[in-house]
Amino acid sequence: MPLSQTVKKEPVAVEVKDLRKSYGDHEVLHGVSLSVAPGEIFVIMGASGTGKSVLLKHIIGLEKPDSGEVLIGGRSAFESSTHRDIVTAIVFQDGALFNSMSVYDNLALYPREHRIYDSKTIHEKVMDTLRILSLENAAQKMPSELSGGMKKRVAVARALMTEPQLLLYDEPTSELDPIMSATISELIATVSRQTGLTSIVVSHDRELSLSIGHRVGLMHEGNMTFIGAPDELKASKDPLVTEFLNPKINLENPRFRKTENGK
Ligand SMILES: Nc1ncnc2c1ncn2[C@@H]1O[C@H](COP(=O)(O)OP(=O)(O)OP(=O)(O)O)[C@@H](O)[C@H]1O
Ligand SMILES: [Mg+2]
Repeated sequence: MPLSQTVKKEPVAVEVKDLRKSYGDHEVLHGVSLSVAPGEIFVIMGASGTGKSVLLKHIIGLEKPDSGEVLIGGRSAFESSTHRDIVTAIVFQDGALFNSMSVYDNLALYPREHRIYDSKTIHEKVMDTLRILSLENAAQKMPSELSGGMKKRVAVARALMTEPQLLLYDEPTSELDPIMSATISELIATVSRQTGLTSIVVSHDRELSLSIGHRVGLMHEGNMTFIGAPDELKASKDPLVTEFLNPKINLENPRFRKTENGK
């Protein structure tokens, strides 16, 4: 079964308008705006501590902005998180799997709890989703028995079981080797193509951003300093962009310091 049959609702557009957020007297977001078209893969890049995860929390409606707004399919993200008419799912950095449950039960949890399908249909959907992600042999495994890359795939599979219109990924390739990172990047692109859902990916990974992002937004110290297609990013003369694309720069470092062997 193609993935598209698991997604019933239309993908949504995302509008972030002049978002400001402070914690105490520290303003983390200084008026961030962006718009993501239905079905688009939008990658948010930026060094550590620039506010990417805080922005993501506003998009899933976990945080309320001081001013500005986030609209998902035209509705306030903060308000729509309380009524479930638009389904947004997130793949957390660590996978956030339930360690006491098998892979199968991790996937079946959401449809069982929400009673959206009978048990036979749930079984079929779990097995189809596992097959699509090449995880059919892992159904009865516990999360502790999986490699890092498999855990990420299970996390994507579990998110897909909610049949989301918007799928967010926080650092999907962190802590993976380059080959597994490329596999996960390709998986994000495949899921997007097959389901048509809207994807927002937060990542330090330059390869991922340039290869799968339809557009990329670069965050710097709480501002969205550049938004454009990968080719526009590569062609940009903006010093913040060129510095960012320099492979000698360690993006995990908040101050863009050069890596130890960088000259
Ligand atoms: N709940 C909170 N209370 C206070 N400060 C916070 C809170 N959440 C985030 N911050 C601060 O906001 C800033 C941005 O944090 P955020 O987690 O968004 O960074 P990031 O860009 O996701 O970094 P990384 O790439 O390391 O994940 C940091 O200075 C952080 O300490
Ligand atoms: Mg983060």
